[in-house]
Amino acid sequence: MSVETVSPIYYDPFDVQIDRTVHATWRRMREEEPVYWNDRYRFYALSRFEDVWNGYHDTATFSSTHGVQLETLDEPTAFPSVIFMDPPEHGVMRKLVSRAFTPRRIAALNSYIETLVDRCLDPLVGSSGFDYVQQFGALVPPMVIGYMLGIPEDERDMLRRWFDEMLHREEGQTEQMNPTSLNASLQVHAYATKLIEERRRHPGEDMISTLVDAEIEEDNVRRRLTDDEVALFVVLLAGAGVETVARLLSWTAVTLAQHPDQRRLLVDDPSLVPGAIEEILRYEAPSPVNGRWTLRDFSAHGVDIPAGSKVLLLNGSANRDQREFTDPDIFDVRRNIQRHITFGFGAHYCLGAALARLEGCAALAGTLARFPEWEIDESELVPVQTSTVRGFASVPIHLG
Ligand code: HEM
Repeated sequence: MSVETVSPIYYDPFDVQIDRTVHATWRRMREEEPVYWNDRYRFYALSRFEDVWNGYHDTATFSSTHGVQLETLDEPTAFPSVIFMDPPEHGVMRKLVSRAFTPRRIAALNSYIETLVDRCLDPLVGSSGFDYVQQFGALVPPMVIGYMLGIPEDERDMLRRWFDEMLHREEGQTEQMNPTSLNASLQVHAYATKLIEERRRHPGEDMISTLVDAEIEEDNVRRRLTDDEVALFVVLLAGAGVETVARLLSWTAVTLAQHPDQRRLLVDDPSLVPGAIEEILRYEAPSPVNGRWTLRDFSAHGVDIPAGSKVLLLNGSANRDQREFTDPDIFDVRRNIQRHITFGFGAHYCLGAALARLEGCAALAGTLARFPEWEIDESELVPVQTSTVRGFASVPIHLG
């Protein structure tokens, strides 16, 4: 008689091999261990849609004050950045920085984004192929942030290079910082401080002018943001708004090459593009893992999570939960999506979600208009994988 052995589930977000087939691992976690415990790195992980959703809303239990990356969760973070705050401080800071993200301001970026798309893609028409990330997807997001910050056109590329270096990772590194990224962060901070001084003297319509001019109320005292708080927000934008969009565009090129029938639908009917970006966001979340620190005991599915624990909220898994989505592993650009968790939810819901969607739509529409078909060779893809971000640093595409 043969005895069937089932291997235990092992998941950790640092393991590049696991990452290659991570959807299979997450599926097992959702079905067999919806509250998963990793003994090596000592974290819990929630993988079902409802649990992740509730986790984002329950800031009294799941705190952001230890950062949101697994490698920082043991200690409270030293940075007074909006993403690392809990209510009520978080609400005060968020109200202020969200002034820089009003729908009017974001919509006003559209024509600049379209110009950037044209500038990147036009010279590539007629070529036999190009690197969709290196020559396009990684260039647009930092230039857009430079524009939002009101940085002169000829200095935006310098900022883009610093942002790039900030995201530099050493081989096998699980630490957040290395000399290259630390040095680049310091340069961005110093450059932002110089801009802040300038904008205090000569305010404009840009994001920095908005932030230096705004007042917050703390303990019944009104005050302006310090230069350091504004500069830290600029540094946060590099982490939050550059790499994520670049990875979204990497998934766009890869997923549509893998589903040429779906791509054909978009070429025939470009009005489907916004729905396609939503489906790509759901299907391959660029930021699939978000960490939290528990402030009080919590129980789910018969597992007790004590206060003072590290917990990962797995957006990428939640988005493939069949309790929420019909046929979740099928990629369907016409899917009617009511909600997904790619941008988190609740208090910390991504401030740049509308901008990311705008960039995604402009990039995809611009691509399809010039290159209705392309192929990829999966052995040429270069994955980027950190404990929070997932996608590709290089996606060579081959044109027919
Ligand atoms: C596809 C692209 C993007 C993805 C997948 C993404 C994902 C996320 C997620 C999951 C969160 C919640 C983090 C948490 O709860 O701990 C978040 C927050 C945030 N995102 Fe994004 N993001 C994207 C693009 C952007 C862009 C373009 C910007 C700005 C230019 C941006 C700025 C922010 C900020 C400032 C927060 C913190 C909000 C808060 O703490 O209240 N993001 N993002």
